[in-house]
Amino acid sequence: MTNYLIEEWSETHPSWGEFAACLEMVAPEQAPFVFGDYCRAYPAYLLVALRLNEVVGFLRFAVQPIGPEANCPVLCLDGVPLTEAKIHAFAVREDARRQGLGTALQKQAIIRAKELGCYQLASYSSYGRDANYHIKLSLGFAAQPESHGENKQGVYFVMPLQNKIS
Ligand SMILES: CC(C)(COP(=O)(O)OP(=O)(O)OC[C@H]1O[C@@H](n2cnc3c(N)ncnc32)[C@H](O)[C@@H]1OP(=O)(O)O)[C@@H](O)C(=O)NCCC(=O)NCCS
Repeated sequence: MTNYLIEEWSETHPSWGEFAACLEMVAPEQAPFVFGDYCRAYPAYLLVALRLNEVVGFLRFAVQPIGPEANCPVLCLDGVPLTEAKIHAFAVREDARRQGLGTALQKQAIIRAKELGCYQLASYSSYGRDANYHIKLSLGFAAQPESHGENKQGVYFVMPLQNKIS
């Protein structure tokens, strides 16, 4: 991780365009989850991984109530609605992979989601994304495999953030 830096950028950050370019280059299939209307409903947060001031990785999540995305009522605890940080985009440029950046981005997302009062950090990933699965399982995310139709299989990963059991 020498010479790497993780920063949080708002959409008004002067280099936002560099993130957008990296997203389009590394993971264009994730772009609709960043720029589409679907993602505008809730506040979103962007973490970027920088190498010599160049964006080489990113993780973007939104803070949303738990439930409505699955067409269910909002989950509450003691009458208080619960929120989750839902990851919408996560990738590292190929030439910067296997150096711990993806793990560092996930760890920073856990820290930020806790600070934002989220009950959990959640993401969905289709099968075949072995490095992503390795990171999530190594960090201790719970895993819920799901299939949608015949060919779409994936796993919901969830990290509880307010575990009171010691
Ligand atoms: C997932 C991704 C962000 C990981 O980035 P990264 O910077 O390489 O991540 P790290 O270096 O922190 O960790 C990668 C881990 O996966 C492991 N790994 C890599 N390829 C693997 C594979 N094919 N099978 C199993 N494990 C693998 C590495 O050994 C490493 O684990 P270790 O630290 O215990 O050795 C990157 O691979 C990527 O951008 N993939 C394409 C986009 C993607 O799949 N995004 C996921 C959201 S859908």
